Amino acid sequence: MSDAKQPAQSQNAESAEDLEAIRKRIEALRRAIEYHNYRYYVLDDPVIPDSVYDALFRELVELEEKYPQFKTPDSPTQRVGGRPREEFPKVRHPKPMLSLANAFSAEELWAWYRRLLKLVPPGTSLAFVVEPKIDGLTIVLHYRNGRFVLGATRGDGIEGEDVTPNLRTIKQIPLRIPVPTQDGKLPDVEVPSYLVVRGEAYVRRADFEKFNEEQRRIGGRTFANPRNFAAGSIRQLDPNVTAQRPLRVWIYFLVLAEGLKRPITSHWEALQYLKTLGFPINPHNKRFEDFAQVVDYCVKEGPELRRRLDYDIDGLVIKVDNMDLWDQLGYVGKDPRWAIAYKFSSEEAVTILLDIEVHVGRTGVLTPVAVLKPVEIGGVIVSRATLHNEDYIIEKDIRIGDHVIVRRAGEVIPQVVRPLPELRTGDERIWRMPKRCPVCGAEVIRPEGEVAYYCPNSSCPAQLIRSVQWFASKQAMDIEGLGIKVAEQLVQEGLVKDLADIYYLRKEDLVRLPGWGEKKAENLLRAIEESKQRPLWRLITGLGIKFVGQVTAQILARRYKSIDALARATEAELAAIEGIGPKIAQSIVVWFRQEQNKKVLEKLRRAGVRMAEEQEEEEGAKPLAGLTFVITGALSSMTREEAKNLIESLGGRVTNSVSRKTDYLIVGENPGSKLQKAQALGVPTLSEEEFFRLIEERKRALEARSS
Ligand code: IVH
Repeated sequence: MSDAKQPAQSQNAESAEDLEAIRKRIEALRRAIEYHNYRYYVLDDPVIPDSVYDALFRELVELEEKYPQFKTPDSPTQRVGGRPREEFPKVRHPKPMLSLANAFSAEELWAWYRRLLKLVPPGTSLAFVVEPKIDGLTIVLHYRNGRFVLGATRGDGIEGEDVTPNLRTIKQIPLRIPVPTQDGKLPDVEVPSYLVVRGEAYVRRADFEKFNEEQRRIGGRTFANPRNFAAGSIRQLDPNVTAQRPLRVWIYFLVLAEGLKRPITSHWEALQYLKTLGFPINPHNKRFEDFAQVVDYCVKEGPELRRRLDYDIDGLVIKVDNMDLWDQLGYVGKDPRWAIAYKFSSEEAVTILLDIEVHVGRTGVLTPVAVLKPVEIGGVIVSRATLHNEDYIIEKDIRIGDHVIVRRAGEVIPQVVRPLPELRTGDERIWRMPKRCPVCGAEVIRPEGEVAYYCPNSSCPAQLIRSVQWFASKQAMDIEGLGIKVAEQLVQEGLVKDLADIYYLRKEDLVRLPGWGEKKAENLLRAIEESKQRPLWRLITGLGIKFVGQVTAQILARRYKSIDALARATEAELAAIEGIGPKIAQSIVVWFRQEQNKKVLEKLRRAGVRMAEEQEEEEGAKPLAGLTFVITGALSSMTREEAKNLIESLGGRVTNSVSRKTDYLIVGENPGSKLQKAQALGVPTLSEEEFFRLIEERKRALEARSS
């Protein structure tokens, strides 16, 4: 019996051929996984579902586990980290890692260009590559015979820190090159025996926010900005921590490529080459042959690009494309002459927080607003900035008197980013939301689960002013001349005590207000009068029901057709409507239940404000209402266009092709294929004469019904 076991055992031990097959399978899996990593992390364009990827990955893990002789450090399974380390070993860079001189304006860019021209042989044609300047952390990657062997930070430019195990965890960094470009197939590209590239590790803004939010929730450490987050994640003694961080990279520089048959002499070409090897190369890199275009691009498109990207860039880098010129051009200290950074004007500035005011919004929300010592940010003087809510102020420990970082990015409202506690003198004051509304004195409330405080008094003048402004705004009833200033005046003078009062304003009251005359009063009253006929959705929007903006208002108007019908709707019924959730439904029902609001609606109705959609009956009063016509051939008494206008003025519709929904086909001279189609579908046809008779008949029928 023991003999009988022999063959089975030898099968377990596997023959040389079996092992070879397993090695091949492992290799194939690695290539496939590398390819899919590339699609997923570099191209952002995965071609297989995650579940399939996971299955491939699992199979590889299992095989490597079972056959440890085939384990290698460059396997995609080895991106998991490793043991924490005591400190980072130092690495000497193969060449100094240079930095960049800065230019802050078009003039400075031109000055740089003129200096270049003086240094290159006369007649040299210069081309330039312009790249986003990523606000992250420099990384230097070494590959020997296509394998990632060493990764370092920049350090002082001569010596950096060895962070290889950490960098291994970043999926965008290939562990082997070239990366397969098609399922498991390697691109036909020469691989240097020794390659060193330089790039930037960074974190997307959204990933940074998400991380901080989560940290806040669990009371962990937060980072001040994406750059610090990226740097802190890479300079981690425990690579397992790095592996958990959403790091990404762009590669922008070929430091060294040994053993290539044909050396690379253009930076642009170098970037294309690195891309073929599988490195992530920024798609926003551009090549120009004309320096005027470079300047134009930097100044005009740069700031726009900065806003559009989902990661931080602090400028653009301009590099001379022709690498042969680099040595000739040389260096100034640590900065090469052949490249320069065009830095965007800062979006942040430091100033002093003088005070915190509280603004009361239309829905009663109290917003803390920073009163700042005026400071210039990107060409604009900023003296107010939002502080979001009390939690934000507490969490960031922002105090009155603090030096604070203020950020103004593009068109968004300036915000206080954080204080600089290191500059405190001890005179700073802690701020808390006042217990009473600063405008009406009502006790403020903070609903459970919300960060905002509210003034619960619906007749609080501050709320009323905002409500009037909203009601009259372009988004709602569109009353020209009724902006925030006028709204303030009307409320403060006691002329408007609720929304409906707008429609009871009298000229004699208006002309008495400071700054008003006949003309201004008449214009406003005319605009108010015109607004009475606005479509129902505008009125619904204007009422300022919490969570009901334009889009929701349009859904409601279409569905209920009148304020009265909407007022009768139940929460369940509303919540069942596509596009309306339970929160909105509840808010609507609560709004209509309030006595104060019912009164306002009655007042609006009495003033003659339209409370319903254009009446269905009105449409019905037209003789051709509800009928759809198609016209074929030439009519004798009118053109097709005229016939169409006539039908539409009588409430009918004209379409271009015959279908089962067509009520009549009007047939003129030389009819087309529409006639056959109508006959085939059984759609009735009318001659021109019959058409006119139909109109007459239906008109008579209508009259008979209404008398
Ligand atoms: S080129 C000699 N290109 O900016 C080549 N640098 O202020 C010098 N950076 O330390 C670097 N994006 O970390 C280059 N597309 C880019 C860059 C870039 C970001 C960083 C890099 C460098 C710093 C210089």
